[in-house]
Amino acid sequence: MFFKLSDEQEMIRKMVRDFAENEVAPTAAERDEEERFDREIFDQMGELGLTGIPWPEEYGGIGADYLSYCIAVEELSRVCASTGVTLSAHTSLAGWPIYKFGTEEQKQRFLRPLAEGTKLGAYGLTEPGSGSDAANMKTTAVKEGDDYILNGSKIFITNAGEAEIYVVFALTEPEQKHKGCTAFIIEKNTPGFFMGKKESKLGIRSSPTLEIIFDNCRVSKENRLGEEGDGFKIAMMTLDGGRNGIAAQAVGIAQGALDASVNYAKDRKQFGKPIGVQQGIAFKLADMATKVEASRLLTYQAAWRESEGLSYGKESAMSKLFAGDTAMEVTVEAVQVFGGYGYTKEYPVERFMRDAKITQIYEGTNEIQRLVISKMLLKD
Ligand code: CAA
Repeated sequence: MFFKLSDEQEMIRKMVRDFAENEVAPTAAERDEEERFDREIFDQMGELGLTGIPWPEEYGGIGADYLSYCIAVEELSRVCASTGVTLSAHTSLAGWPIYKFGTEEQKQRFLRPLAEGTKLGAYGLTEPGSGSDAANMKTTAVKEGDDYILNGSKIFITNAGEAEIYVVFALTEPEQKHKGCTAFIIEKNTPGFFMGKKESKLGIRSSPTLEIIFDNCRVSKENRLGEEGDGFKIAMMTLDGGRNGIAAQAVGIAQGALDASVNYAKDRKQFGKPIGVQQGIAFKLADMATKVEASRLLTYQAAWRESEGLSYGKESAMSKLFAGDTAMEVTVEAVQVFGGYGYTKEYPVERFMRDAKITQIYEGTNEIQRLVISKMLLKD
């Protein structure tokens, strides 16, 4: 077993860290305050090749592995979790199912612009009445000749409004429940496809989250992803990898909070010496660092397994569960290390704490991760 990144992975980490610190960090607090998505940052990511890290060059990607992609999400999230999830949803939730299940024509038409960063991707599964119980969706897609007519709505859609390409799920045979679910690729300006309410959120405030609405939205069968009835499996398999992207986001948030805490603990003096050498804070930092490292190892392992063609669903659920809980714990502790200053917007740790919370909720709550892990254990 090797615990050393390859030269390519190290190079990607360095490139993304430079980009994150120079181009993303300076406006992170301001974008959070204003709930403002910055398309220019996404465009710059496209120019650097970050929007297509794991996809082959023939589809506009850079042909690197899933671990490199996780490192990129981690480094972005270390300074701005909103930018981290923009890339994670774009790559894992929109790009991956098209790469895996799309026809050659769909890959050239939809995956290529996603990989090149000329278009942004999103994924629509959750509905007002079906969050954890994803199979209980109500959106329908009725076949009419060579077209499908979609009706219904999806909520909490990351990147919505800004995205041009949406992978969504609807029932083509409602009486068959999840076995009657089919995946579709919907383009932004399709007639009958509308943006609904924009959420105002506790954290990841510069990542847009909107409702999307289908009102007699007609799409051709060329927009169907996979076969009729394959939709639920496509949705679940997509989340298997997506969850590890969120784990990487959580590792980045926790690392950002840890770095800020260590720096502060070295500088801040109370009782005549730095607070970092006083055991109450020193031991806190040690616990924080240990949990961040354990989260990182779980996350990298799951990404490595996916790149190697091994099973990774259970490992991704574990990494998301552990890294999400760690991000929450570590950021709460970071605010404690900073004391009163940590509670103000003068320092980034309060933002990290607000951002961490969502990693325990989206792409399946951490309760759902436990369900996924235990189901797989019992099946084994
Ligand atoms: N891979 C392949 N197939 C899978 C699968 C997987 N990982 N998981 C389930 N399936 C298949 C099963 O094999 C089964 O197939 P058959 O009918 O052929 O036997 C079928 O799917 C149904 O499986 P279950 O009976 O296990 O399904 P369930 O209804 O009990 O639900 C669940 C399982 C794990 C709870 C699922 O509903 C789930 O993951 N819920 C959470 C939803 C979620 O994560 N939403 C996130 C939204 S996206 C988001 O958050 C993005 C963002 O903002 C950034």
